[in-house]
Amino acid sequence: MAHRICRIPGDGVGHDVIEAASLVLEAMNLGIEWVDAEAGWCCWEKYGNTVPEATWKALESSECCLFGAITSKPGIPGFKSAILQMRQRFDLYANVRPCKAYPGVPLNYRDDIDLVIFRENTEDLYSGIEWKAMPEEMFKMHPGLERFRGQEIAASLRVVTRRGCRRIVKSAFEYARRHGIKSVAAVHKANVIRETCGMFLEEARAVAKDYRDIELSEANVDAMAMWLIKQPQLYKVIVTTNLFGDILSDEAAQLVGGLGFAASANLGDNYALFEPTHGSAPKYAGQYKVNPMATLISARMMLEWLGEEKAAERLENAIAKTLSEGRVRTYDLGGANTTLDVAREVVCSLA
Ligand code: IPM
Ligand code: MG
Repeated sequence: MAHRICRIPGDGVGHDVIEAASLVLEAMNLGIEWVDAEAGWCCWEKYGNTVPEATWKALESSECCLFGAITSKPGIPGFKSAILQMRQRFDLYANVRPCKAYPGVPLNYRDDIDLVIFRENTEDLYSGIEWKAMPEEMFKMHPGLERFRGQEIAASLRVVTRRGCRRIVKSAFEYARRHGIKSVAAVHKANVIRETCGMFLEEARAVAKDYRDIELSEANVDAMAMWLIKQPQLYKVIVTTNLFGDILSDEAAQLVGGLGFAASANLGDNYALFEPTHGSAPKYAGQYKVNPMATLISARMMLEWLGEEKAAERLENAIAKTLSEGRVRTYDLGGANTTLDVAREVVCSLA
C-alpha cells in the first residue's frame, strides 16, 4: 500500500542520514510518496522560525514523519526547538527508544543487551515553563523560596499530569505484553521530587494492576544509571519521565554502539515521527561520515507503525546482516566506509 510520508532532513548530518534511509526505503519498493519539508536551525536563520507554516502543512498532510537531526543552541531569545514543538503539537507522548546489541558491533558493551526505553515526551521539565527572574507572586505561593531571596534566580517548572503518567506507563506495559516480556522497570526520583515523581509512581503501580502477568519493578533514576552499567541485560522495558528518559537513553545507546545506534519513535494516538536521537554534528555535515544505522532502525520502526510488518522485518534482517558481516562500516565502528556505502550494503542484504 502506498504511504505518504513527510521527510525532514533538518540540519547538518540529518541530510546525510535521511539520504541513506531514503535510498534503502526506495529500494524496497514500498510505493512511498515523500512530502519534503524543512525544519530546524536552517529555518531559524531564514525565517526566524524553526518550523515554518509550510512544514506544519506538510506534516499535517502526511501519515507520519521521517526526521533527520537539528541544531539547537541555548540562550537565543525566542528560539524554540523544532523537534520539541512537533512532539507537543502532535501530542507524541511516547518516545520509544530501543537499545539492542546487534551481533558483530565491536562497540557492544555486552552481547545480551536488548531493552527499550519508554520516555514520556510532552511534559516534565520540557514543558517550557521557565522564569529568568522569580515573580513576586511566587514567593507568596511557596515559603521554600524565601531562602533564595536576594539572589538572582532562574526557575523551570516540572509539570506532569496523571493522564500523561498513565498513558506512557500503559504504552510500556502494552509493548511488554505484545512482546511476551515479563517485567517493566519504572524509573523515578520520588524520594526527593515527591509530587511529580510520586504521581508517576502511583500511576505505574495502578497500571501494573491491569497486567498481572507482568512484574513492575521500581528504581530511582540515579540507581538505574548505575544498574545500566552494572547489569543492563536484566532490563527489557524501562519507563520513565521526559528528562530522565532523555539521559538514560543516551547512556543505554552507548552500551550498544553509541549514538550511531540511537533510534527512536515519537508516537501519539494519531501521528508519529521517527528520528535518530543523535544531533546534527555540524562538523561532519555533508561528509557522509556518520553511521546511518540509527536512522535505518528508526525507519524500521516507522514501517512497523505503518502496519508494514513484513517490510519492517525485511529491513531489520538486512540491518542485522550488514552489521554481523561487518564488511562495510563507518568510522565509529572502525571502518572507512561512507554513510551511503552502508545504505547500499543494507540494500544488498535485503532478502
Ligand atoms: C533527544 C534530544 C532532544 C531532547 C533535544 C534535541 C531537544 O536530546 O531527542 O533525545 O532533549 O529530547
Ligand atoms: Mg537526548
